[in-house]
Amino acid sequence: MIKRPLPFVDPVIDDAELNKVIDVIKSKWLVEGKVVHELEDKFKDFVGTKYALAVTNGTTALHLAMEGIGINPGDEVITTPFTFIASVNSISFVGGIPKFVDIDPKTWEIDPKEIKKAITPKTKAILPVHIFGLPSNMPEIMEIAEENDLLVIEDAAQAHGAKINGKHVGGFGHVAAFSFYATKNMIAGEGGMVVTNDEELRDKMESIKNHGRPKKGGYLHLRIGYNFRMTDLCAAVGLAQLEKLPTLLNKRAKNAERLRKIIDQIEEIEYQFVPKGYTHANYVFAIKLSSSEKVDQLITYLKDNNIRSRRIYSTLAYKQPAYQNIKEWRWAKVLEYPDYSKVKTPIAKDIATTHMEIPVVPTLTQEELKYLEKVLLNWNG
Ligand SMILES: Cc1ncc(COP(=O)(O)O)c(C=O)c1O
Repeated sequence: MIKRPLPFVDPVIDDAELNKVIDVIKSKWLVEGKVVHELEDKFKDFVGTKYALAVTNGTTALHLAMEGIGINPGDEVITTPFTFIASVNSISFVGGIPKFVDIDPKTWEIDPKEIKKAITPKTKAILPVHIFGLPSNMPEIMEIAEENDLLVIEDAAQAHGAKINGKHVGGFGHVAAFSFYATKNMIAGEGGMVVTNDEELRDKMESIKNHGRPKKGGYLHLRIGYNFRMTDLCAAVGLAQLEKLPTLLNKRAKNAERLRKIIDQIEEIEYQFVPKGYTHANYVFAIKLSSSEKVDQLITYLKDNNIRSRRIYSTLAYKQPAYQNIKEWRWAKVLEYPDYSKVKTPIAKDIATTHMEIPVVPTLTQEELKYLEKVLLNWNG
């Protein structure tokens, strides 16, 4: 009945990307140039911030954000353990100390009440992650940040198209990072973007991502910097994708709506709660089951029926060997880290082990959705 295994990743790539890449190749200028700058310009308009800077990937976008706003060795940054490891590593790169707090049981986003409890005199910033494309509670997070004089770096790697009351994520915090990795709502063949409304910060980050050069370039180096520059080749793919993004998001939203209606009929399965006024970007459609065993059973059952699904982030960030063995990290030679083996986030622990991803990709056809519905409703787990 279905012609392919239903995928959870299926980028939409066609002549639009091809033609733009050919133009770049014909121009003979493959590295950062006018195509990167066009992508920056259009992406800042999409998000609604004043500035955007393209970089090599979402991880370097976060790293650049940390360098730019000045997270220094020993500064504590409060974040969620329920995320991809790059969110947390970006704090560690610059010597910041990740402080993990629990998540909200309904939205699976960092819990503002827990953030408040974790603030110490050493706290410098908060790093919310808009997990799976649902915005974190930015109004409350910004209020806490203001009251306590903290900086906010949004990890919007998964959240192109996510909004709160019509305002796009990325524009709430002091700086935000997006990713254009192969699985994301828009892709670029590796790529990332930092966005901000702060001109001084923008200029500093532009310098840091280009060997610490001044605006006019050359061989003067004002500060220690990196090479985080995106290529025009990747930007060409990104530009074509950005043009398609509203259509792709629309399809994801429709598919997610349909999936929610299906899941509503299955008593023991839940999904991420979308608060009123929040627009989920539907990067991942995740469902939560009553136990870890049920997750294994459902994944096997779906596989047997030609539907791909998987666990993601089932190991919380502080449980990863990288953080359990933090003494081996270079900054541990001069900095005091918490004992990550003692961290407790019961809600995140439960969700991490009992959730899984099912297909929501924009290319799903009506027939495929109907099939998915039939298979899910027939599950007698
Ligand atoms: C939440 C989150 N942060 C950061 C990243 C890093 O992005 P990239 O893979 O482009 O380096 C990713 C994606 O992979 C992500 O999902």
